[in-house]
Amino acid sequence: MSNLAIRRALITGGGTGVGAVMARMLADAGVKVAVSGRRSDVLAEVANHENITAIVADVTDETSVRDMFATMVDVIGAPDLVIANAGMAESAPIGKTSVDLWKQTLDVNLTGTFLTFREGLAVMDKTKPGRLISIASTAGLKGYAYVTAYCAAKHGVVGLIKSMAAEIAKSPITVNAVCPGFMETPMLEKSVANIVAKTGMTVDEARASLAKINPQNRLIQPQEVADTVMWLCSPSAASITGQAISVSGGEI
Ligand SMILES: NC(=O)c1ccc[n+]([C@@H]2O[C@H](COP(=O)([O-])OP(=O)(O)OC[C@H]3O[C@@H](n4cnc5c(N)ncnc54)[C@H](OP(=O)(O)O)[C@@H]3O)[C@@H](O)[C@H]2O)c1
Repeated sequence: MSNLAIRRALITGGGTGVGAVMARMLADAGVKVAVSGRRSDVLAEVANHENITAIVADVTDETSVRDMFATMVDVIGAPDLVIANAGMAESAPIGKTSVDLWKQTLDVNLTGTFLTFREGLAVMDKTKPGRLISIASTAGLKGYAYVTAYCAAKHGVVGLIKSMAAEIAKSPITVNAVCPGFMETPMLEKSVANIVAKTGMTVDEARASLAKINPQNRLIQPQEVADTVMWLCSPSAASITGQAISVSGGEI
């Protein structure tokens, strides 16, 4: 076991993208990890590791989130690290943002984080070091055109972690958000496909247009976000709480 303050982790949206990278990194470090999401096939691939267990769950459903933690407690034990990573992003100009898209985006990104943290905290040992970490976004710190619902949801997540951190500051459990800029995952591939369809750019041009938003002119790698999470899980990060940490090449 490496030098981590935690031993059992739950990661929502752990079947793909940065969630899967964090799961493998923690599992390789000896942490028992539960990955959750709606698709059992992608979860099963990540769970092909002696330290990873798959749990099918939908973060927008209160009962499903409660059951997810109950299963984790039964199979692995109570988590001391909960990562609210599940998310979705769909772009639309404000005038074409339907109430359905607005609600779905807030349900997954904001209500999903709230339920994951509320139910996670309920089963955590409040007398031992613990970590609640949200994978928010630079969209939680600044505005981007054509993603009002996503930006509103991620700003909400930043407010949520700051408020929770103040509320549980007397316990050894910290609450933080990690805020990546444009990051190379399946979610980015969807954004690239959308830009190609809407503008006629090539895939390379669309990727370059997103990389250019980062002052370092590159896409963030999921591994960089996982490394930040590993640092937050170290005992030396015990004083870091209520923070929204930008991993964005200086974008914000
Ligand atoms: N990629 C970027 O540029 C970027 C930048 C900043 C922040 N982020 C954030 O990073 C996080 C991870 O995204 P990613 O980039 O790794 O993309 P991703 O591969 O699309 O991951 C999103 C994950 O969320 C899960 N999910 C979606 N809706 C869910 C629901 N209702 N219940 C449970 N799980 C659900 C998905 O699994 P199922 O579909 O199987 O449920 C999927 O595994 C998200 O919160 C995203 O907003 C991404």
